[in-house]
Amino acid sequence: MIATDKIEAAKERFGQLLEEQLRRVEEMKAQGDFIDYNSLDQIIIGVCGGDGIGPAITAQAQRVLEYLLKDEVKSGKVAFRVIDGLTIERRAEENAAIPPAVLEELKQCHVILKGPTTTPRKGDPWPNVESANVAMRKELDLFANVRPVRVPDQGIDWTFYRENTEGAYAVGSKGVNVTEDLGVDFTVVTTQGTERIIRAAFEFAKANGKTRVTAVTKANIIKTTDGKFLDIFREIAKDYPDITADDWYIDIMTAKLVDEKRRKDFQVMVLPNLYGDILTDEAAEFQGGVGTAGSANIGKRYAMFEAIHGSAPRMVQEGRDKYADPSSIIRAGAMLLNHIGYSDKADKLYRALDICTVTEKKLVLTGRDTGATGEEFADYLMETIENLK
Ligand code: IPM
Ligand code: MG
Repeated sequence: MIATDKIEAAKERFGQLLEEQLRRVEEMKAQGDFIDYNSLDQIIIGVCGGDGIGPAITAQAQRVLEYLLKDEVKSGKVAFRVIDGLTIERRAEENAAIPPAVLEELKQCHVILKGPTTTPRKGDPWPNVESANVAMRKELDLFANVRPVRVPDQGIDWTFYRENTEGAYAVGSKGVNVTEDLGVDFTVVTTQGTERIIRAAFEFAKANGKTRVTAVTKANIIKTTDGKFLDIFREIAKDYPDITADDWYIDIMTAKLVDEKRRKDFQVMVLPNLYGDILTDEAAEFQGGVGTAGSANIGKRYAMFEAIHGSAPRMVQEGRDKYADPSSIIRAGAMLLNHIGYSDKADKLYRALDICTVTEKKLVLTGRDTGATGEEFADYLMETIENLK
């Protein structure tokens, strides 16, 4: 027996989703160019601790940034603003991915440094609200998720340009259970959304002397949406004749990243949201784990910088948050500095991070009282920067 009324209800829902997405297309069409931080009287950096170990590690990253930007803060060119309330408790209470008042505060900033936020899943004590990460990427239209992975001694120097607002994530929390037996989710691709991420990847390649950009899709199977992504990639590649443009399917790409002979050849990778999510975790693992990677979420008006790791609630329950390793969020802070035009300060921070986490490593963080605290690590980092001068 076909449930006609249920199909009608699902069609109704699908219609609403299409309207939402078409509105988004119109918004993208109306969008101007990237913000120019130089032309601002003041750059406002929002600091949003998030959940679990987030506030502890983010506070250390803020100390390091304030230290590097002390002259700019003094002159008023840069201001820090701490934004509380992006916690799972508050989000649950308000049943919102991002409480509206918090979103308003975020929108007053230009760039945001964000600690990890808890993403509820079925069975958790929280309502199944949308991930705060995903919501922020959508609300602030942070379409380019840039994730660098470097392992110099293995010749790995990759930069991933993950599309951050569309694909399986666009309406990921709005699928439809048509009947008890049939569930449907949707993957969304738009011309505007695809063009801007692919162009961003090629522009990055061009500006940084990269000679190859690789698209990763599953266009042989997901023919409409991934097919469109790949068609647009090939079209845009024509504007960059000096850059080799090739494409791989996600399955074989996942395999090639562990192929020591071939993986060195990849440079810049551009890919739809879900493939980017998966491949960047795999890639970060070669560098020492997701805890070592920073991630930039860039849009034309706003940008947000975060660690890829989670909120580690257990560390807080056991009173160990002060021992949590802040290096990933500090690395995100270095990306932030670079993004707003302080590349010399970012370089110093990267160099100091290398010294403190790889070459000299005078302090070891173990996540417990057998190692240093995040605060001690930040002190060590600032001393190291001081000595670089
Ligand atoms: C990431 C994370 C997020 C994602 C989660 C926390 C929603 O895995 O930033 O890669 O899936 O994008
Ligand atoms: Mg992920």
